[in-house]
Amino acid sequence: MSKPLVVAIDGPSGTGKSSVSKAVAKQLGLAYLDTGAMYRALAWSCLDVAIDFDDGSAVAEHSRTFDLRMGMDPAAPTVAVGTRRIDREIREDAVTSVVSRVATNLDVRADMLTRQRALIAEGVQHSGGVVAEGRDITTVVAPDADVRILMTASEEARMARRSRQLRVSAESTRSQIIDRDRTDSTVSQFTTAADGVVTVDTSHIDFRQSVAAVLHVVKEAVGGD
Ligand code: DC
Repeated sequence: MSKPLVVAIDGPSGTGKSSVSKAVAKQLGLAYLDTGAMYRALAWSCLDVAIDFDDGSAVAEHSRTFDLRMGMDPAAPTVAVGTRRIDREIREDAVTSVVSRVATNLDVRADMLTRQRALIAEGVQHSGGVVAEGRDITTVVAPDADVRILMTASEEARMARRSRQLRVSAESTRSQIIDRDRTDSTVSQFTTAADGVVTVDTSHIDFRQSVAAVLHVVKEAVGGD
């Protein structure tokens, strides 16, 4: 592909957004940026150096100064703070339960916006483009992306998907998914598609069909072969 391609994908938890975005990036030969992992890395690092989550300015200051390193190869994306790899740690409950506290801090979001735009530029430069996923990519981080997609799914489908991943009952994922999305949606609008954003509803389709649906939207947007 000669022209750089930026694909922005937003949506709540449990829509299959991350695995689909990664697969699409692989198929298109693009870089992959998981912006949720960046907020998770900050939450992990705040826990690591014992920053008080109630002290919003200390959290924001830490966001501006911590050494976050994102590896954007979709076959093996990595997250590190300095030389410490934290790919597994950022998925643990200790991080999941506090990540909204850093993600709803507006000074943190301003810092992450700068970092995310720099990473997207790096993906464009080194890989010819990037698939970036999160909650505010289509609206704030890359509103001028070539392709903008909102992945949605019913509450039932999202809870069922996440409970299969975590091997727990669907009901027990409610607070992790529905409540967290409610908190997160106070700072980003990711439940309805903004103007020009194409919705892909994954409630009744599987992973392969979701990947195909996203690739179809990309093809339509960039003119196909
Ligand atoms: O998608 P995830 O669960 O890994 O996201 C982690 C947290 O970061 C979640 O609380 C939503 C938030 N987030 C955000 O506010 N904006 C983004 N672009 C990506 C994630």
